[in-house]
Amino acid sequence: PLALLLAALGGYLLGAVPFGLVLTRLAGLGDIRAIGSGNIGATNVLRTGRKDLALATLLLDSGKGAIAALGAQALAGWSGAGWGTVAPAVPVVAGVAAVVGHNYPVWLLFRGGKGVATTLGVILATAWPVGLLACLTWLTMAVLFRYSSLAALTALSVAPALALALAERPHAAGFAVLGLLAWWRHRDNVRRLVNGTESRIGQAAKPAS
Ligand code: G3P
Repeated sequence: PLALLLAALGGYLLGAVPFGLVLTRLAGLGDIRAIGSGNIGATNVLRTGRKDLALATLLLDSGKGAIAALGAQALAGWSGAGWGTVAPAVPVVAGVAAVVGHNYPVWLLFRGGKGVATTLGVILATAWPVGLLACLTWLTMAVLFRYSSLAALTALSVAPALALALAERPHAAGFAVLGLLAWWRHRDNVRRLVNGTESRIGQAAKPAS
């Protein structure tokens, strides 16, 4: 229905705001896409040496995912029965749209980020116990191996299973879509992990590849 389409469009537009790119530009660091992995996310912002900007990027990128989902949920609540049987799916659909917006922003000719922070924001907002466990998985993997990409792929791969285990069934399918999207966007990282050239968290920037 039209309402679902509006939630998706709102989510997409919110997700398409590239905070990492905007913040690093405002800070006079140039184009983040020419630094490190070339990605616009918090991990790559950290490679500039600016921990504060990396943290702000993490919070804003995850926040936009959470707000997209919660905003759509509020909208569904206000308009009541008008949403009919699609109502439970509305927050996840808006959240997936936000991640698609982050990964393929119209403003950057559809060349965006990898969607990890935004996905975690969506999961936290729609099924917080799953989100909490996914964040803990990310942290554990990051501490153990110090690869942001590996931590993200592990966390986002276990999220759908956690959703099923914690009886968050309506969300499991949406989280599975987000997991698959993450794997697709991390193709280069997977290649680098396999051949041993992936940068570790906080490691000085290597040339964009
Ligand atoms: O959040 C993205 C992260 O998983 C990988 O980022 O810059 O190392 O490609 P990057």
